[in-house]
Amino acid sequence: MEIAQAVQQIQPSYIREILAAASDKKVISLAGGLPDEQTFPLHLMQPTIESLTTLRDVFQYGPTAGYPPLIEYLTAAYQLPGTHQVITCTGSQQGLDLIARAYVNPNDTVAMEEPCYLGAMQVFGLAQANLVTVSQDRWGPNIEELERCFKTTAPKMFYAVPDFHNPTGVSWSLERRQQVAKLCNQYRVVFIEDAPYRELRFSGTPLPLVSDFCPEFSIVLRSMSKVASPGLRFGTVSGKRSDIAPLIKVKQGADLHSSLPVQAIILGLLQHPEFADHIGNIRELYRSRYETLFEALQTYLPSGCHVNATEGGMFVWVTLPQCDTFALAKTLLANQVAVVPSPVFYPPSSQAPSALRLNFTNANPEELVTAVQRIAKVLNETYRVNQPHEIKAEFSQSK
Ligand SMILES: Cc1ncc(COP(=O)(O)O)c(C=O)c1O
Repeated sequence: MEIAQAVQQIQPSYIREILAAASDKKVISLAGGLPDEQTFPLHLMQPTIESLTTLRDVFQYGPTAGYPPLIEYLTAAYQLPGTHQVITCTGSQQGLDLIARAYVNPNDTVAMEEPCYLGAMQVFGLAQANLVTVSQDRWGPNIEELERCFKTTAPKMFYAVPDFHNPTGVSWSLERRQQVAKLCNQYRVVFIEDAPYRELRFSGTPLPLVSDFCPEFSIVLRSMSKVASPGLRFGTVSGKRSDIAPLIKVKQGADLHSSLPVQAIILGLLQHPEFADHIGNIRELYRSRYETLFEALQTYLPSGCHVNATEGGMFVWVTLPQCDTFALAKTLLANQVAVVPSPVFYPPSSQAPSALRLNFTNANPEELVTAVQRIAKVLNETYRVNQPHEIKAEFSQSK
C-alpha cells in the first residue's frame, strides 16, 4: 500500500535514533527531554490509584472534552472566563495535533520560532503547512522580523514556547510577551502558546502567559509530563470556546476521549495537599543540576563556545564554532555522551548555526561533569589547530 504523501516526507526522528543508542548504560545521555524518574510523585498518586476500583464511572466511556470533575477543577485553576474552556488530551502533543488537524489546510502558513520544538515541526509538517520561521534572541522572538512575517505571509497561527524554550532554554521577557501579544491582536494571528516547562522556573520572576495579553487570539497547551510523569500522557488545551469546539470534533474522531482513569489520577494529584511541595522539590533538584552543568561548561569548554544561561526548564543550548554537528554528535556518542545537534531543530531549508542541546534533568551531578569533560575533550581535539590558546568559553548571563 502506498504511504500517504504527507507521511512520506517526514524524516525519521534523529532524537529517537540517538535515544536508542543512548540506552547503552555506558552512555551518559544529555540527549532526551526526560524528567528524572525518581521525581515521579507516585506516593501522591497512590491514594487515588488505590481507590480507582471504587470509581466505576471512570471505566465507562466519557465525554470527549474530558473527565467532568477534572474539567471543573482546571477551569477554576486556570481562571478561565466564561467565554473560554479547557479540554484534556493525551499529552500536550495530541493537543498540538488536534490544532493542526482542525485548522491547517495544506499550504496554510504557520509561523514558528527558529530553532523550534521538533514535535511541532513534525505535526505541522504532517498537516502540510507552509512553515515560516522567526529568529530568536535571549529575550524572545525578533519583533521586527515577526511583524514583517505577519505582514508579508499572513500566517494562520504563531506557535511558540515562551517559557524555557525547547531547545534553547530562552524565557521571553515581559516586554517581548506584550509585544508579541500586541502583534497577534493587531494582525489577528492566533498565538499557540506551548507551556510544558512553565512550572519548572528555578530562578528569576514568574511572568504572565503571553496569552494573558491576547485572550481573544490565543490557545494554550499545558502538560503534566515534566512535573508529574510523561508516561501518563496527560495535557490540556484551553482557549475561546469557539476555537476549542473544532478540536473536540477532531478528538472524537481520533480517540473518542483520553483515558478517564488517568484523568482521575491527575485530579487526585492536583488536589493533593503536598503537590505544591513536590513542584518546589523538582525545581530545587533541577536548579542544582543546571548549576552543576553550567559550572562544568564554564570550567571545561574551549574558546569559541557560547552557553545560554537559563532560569528553568530542562535544556542548555551551547553554540559552537562552525562545524558539522551531526558528525560531532556521532563522535561524542563514540565517546559515550549523547547530545542533540542543532539542525534537528531547524526546518530543512534553513541554515542551522552549529550548536548542541544539552539536557540537565536526567543525569546525576557526577554524570553531568563527566559528560562535559568528554565533550570538551572532543572539542579541544577537533579545534586544536584553530585554537592554540586556552581561552575560556563565553557565557550569557540570564536577564
Ligand atoms: C515544547 C514541547 N511541547 C510539547 C511537548 C510534548 O509534551 P507531552 O508529553 O505533554 O505530549 C514537549 C515534550 O518534550 C515539548 O518539549
